Amino acid sequence: MKAVIAYLALLVSIPSAAFADTIAIIGTGQVAQALGPEFAAQGYDIVYGSRSPDSQKTRDVVEMTPGNASAMLPGDSVRDASIVVLAVPGDLVEEITRGLGDLSGKIIIDPTNALTGDWETELSIGVSTSNARIIQDAAPDAYVVKAFSTLNWRQMVEPGGEISILLAGDSDAAKAKVSQIVSAMDLNPIDLGDVDNARWIEGMTILWLNNRISDRPNFEYHLRVVD
Ligand SMILES: NC(=O)c1ccc[n+]([C@@H]2O[C@H](COP(=O)([O-])OP(=O)(O)OC[C@H]3O[C@@H](n4cnc5c(N)ncnc54)[C@H](OP(=O)(O)O)[C@@H]3O)[C@@H](O)[C@H]2O)c1
Repeated sequence: MKAVIAYLALLVSIPSAAFADTIAIIGTGQVAQALGPEFAAQGYDIVYGSRSPDSQKTRDVVEMTPGNASAMLPGDSVRDASIVVLAVPGDLVEEITRGLGDLSGKIIIDPTNALTGDWETELSIGVSTSNARIIQDAAPDAYVVKAFSTLNWRQMVEPGGEISILLAGDSDAAKAKVSQIVSAMDLNPIDLGDVDNARWIEGMTILWLNNRISDRPNFEYHLRVVD
């Protein structure tokens, strides 16, 4: 009961608009195509924010998404959304976030990786900051939650076993909301603290990738929570 009251208290600390039903997914690539249909299956309306909303590729992505899916230009897509997912190249998060306009009160889910290039195993920005921190600074009145960055898009759809989704963000209520979405995907959310801890999560991707492209064993992150 105490936990329920604490959770409700956290919910009211975020404006109610943060818990409406539309999720804007910026991008139409692999992560967008994995998360869009998954979130739609939970009852959310999905609007893809694409630079080419009328292209055949974008129409196909909309088509594969259940429910009331649509696509529009990124800046338009976020207008009625309570949650925004930045499924975009990691080195562009600052300019893309700023280009979306006012994101105050919205939850921003950040699955991006700070890599030097495709399948590179070096962080592009070192450990003094992170993509999540950069996004939070670009949208100071939004609630950034790092999530979904340490697994492949295929396992977002078919986990195939226990996988932890590592969360970092300053708002407990936003993390609770993202945890709810993650759990409904049969993935295990685990809160790793405030947004500044996202830099360590982004580093964990390097370890994970290093093994995936070597002859060492592939693995998924599964953290066992203990009392
Ligand atoms: N692929 C994975 O398995 C995976 C897993 C975890 C995390 N991530 C991370 O998640 C993010 C998205 O990954 P992804 O694999 O979905 O990438 P992707 O397939 O390359 O898609 C990125 C999307 O970003 C949009 N975009 C907006 N501005 C862009 C620009 N200037 N240049 C290129 N694309 C732009 C594009 O959509 P429009 O063309 O419609 O605008 C594009 O479809 C990356 O940061 C990645 O590191 C990827």
